[in-house]
Formats: sequence, structure tokens, C-alpha cells
Amino acid sequence: MTVRLLGLNCSPRDKNNSGIMIGHAFEKLAATYPGQFEHEVVHLRELHVEPCKACNVCGKRKDGTFIPCVREREDDVQGVLDAMVAADGIVVATPVYFGLPSDLFSKFIMRTRTLRHQDFKLANKPVGVLATAGRRSGGAETAIIATWLPFVRNGCLVVGNGDGTCQFGAYGWAGPRGHVSSDEWGLVQAFQTAQRVFTLAAMVKAGAEATGYGDYMRFSYSQGTRT
Ligand SMILES: Cc1cc2nc3c(=O)[nH]c(=O)nc-3n(C[C@H](O)[C@H](O)[C@H](O)COP(=O)(O)O)c2cc1C
Repeated sequence: MTVRLLGLNCSPRDKNNSGIMIGHAFEKLAATYPGQFEHEVVHLRELHVEPCKACNVCGKRKDGTFIPCVREREDDVQGVLDAMVAADGIVVATPVYFGLPSDLFSKFIMRTRTLRHQDFKLANKPVGVLATAGRRSGGAETAIIATWLPFVRNGCLVVGNGDGTCQFGAYGWAGPRGHVSSDEWGLVQAFQTAQRVFTLAAMVKAGAEATGYGDYMRFSYSQGTRT
């Protein structure tokens, strides 16, 4: 079985630390699980991302067909949504901004509402977060938890890192561009978090295949309402 992970780099600046965190984690995963791991990294800063218009049009018709986002053809978001749906798990890397994930993350993640309205297309996908902050106690953990929330609303399974300490994810400690490369423990945590996403994604995939319960969330969302 192969497990496909999508990396979402939510830093708006070039040569960012978030990309280094994801790159390191995925490189090490590929070396640890040869032949079992596929991945793709989306750098949101390179894409055109429009905000959700709150038009409330996306969703499900009474006949069961889906109504796409009205912005489907206006920018690059639909391609990322498709990549999220195709992935078995997601690793988000974000800079910490005022104790929160980046505004780029927030703008993008609101557009996943269309997936929620389309029978929870992200249901049961494991998600881990790698947050990079310039300061110790600068809000890495609040940023991680804030990043989790929209994924929980999408029916995802949020995880921390996978070693014996079981923290909330990864904390990269770096201010200037590229400095996270010298944060040895941050990089270790980045790998551990991605590894936790990978292993849980493998378990969910195998379990869904064995039990047929993979679509439980989708089947239980049967009223056709947009709640
Ligand atoms: C608008 C803004 C807000 C920030 N807020 C925080 C903060 O609350 N806590 C902190 O430790 N660092 C903060 N930083 C520093 C960044 O988190 C830090 O530079 C990080 O390495 C950026 O990651 P990136 O290179 O992936 O973009 C802030 C930076 C900016 C530009």
C-alpha cells in the first residue's frame, strides 16, 4: 500500500522556513518508507487564492449532485482542493503570526467549505501541523491549535508528533528566512509529525478498505442540508 501526503506551505514569503520544515519531513519519510510514500507540496504563495465570498451557493442539490464553488474557475484554489481530496493525509506548515497561522492559510482554508458542503470530502484524513515562530513562547502552540480547527470542522483527524513525548506537532524556532535549518529539534519534530500523519493515514486507509466504514461521515450527512 502506498500513502500519499499533501504538504501545504502557508508562508507568504520567499525562501521561507515553512518550506524547509515540510521538505525535511518529506525527505526523511521517503527515506524511511521507500516505495510506500508519495507526496506533493503546494506552496500557496505561488498560487492565486481568492477569499470565500460567503455566497452560500456551494453544496448539494436535492437530487444529490454537488454545486461547486462559484470561484471554481476564478483562481487556483480548486486544484489544491482536488489535491487535498486525493491525498491520504495532509501536513500543514505555517509561520506563526500573532500566535495564529498565516492570513494566507486562513484565506485558503475558508475555501474548503465547499468540500464540507459536498458530503465532507476531507473526512477522516489525518492532519498534522508544523508551525515556525521567531520567538520561544511566541504562539506556536496556539497557532497549531487554530490551524487544527477548520480541519476538525471538515471531519479530519488532527494529530501531534509521533514520538514518546506526543506534543501538539512541530515547533520550528526561527525568525529570518532559512534559519530553521539549524533548529535541529524543530526538524526532528517536523519529521515526527509527518510520520504520525503517514502512519495514521496508512491505518485509516487499511481500516477503511477492510471494514467499508470509510464513507461513514459521508453517509451520515444525508439530509442534503448545509449545516
Ligand atoms: C506579521 C507577522 C507576525 C508575526 N508574529 C509572530 C508571533 O506572534 N510570534 C513569533 O514568535 N513570531 C512571529 N513572527 C515571526 C515569524 O513567525 C517567523 O519569522 C517565521 O520564521 C516565519 O516563517 P516563514 O519563513 O515560514 O514565513 C511574525 C512575523 C510576521 C511577518
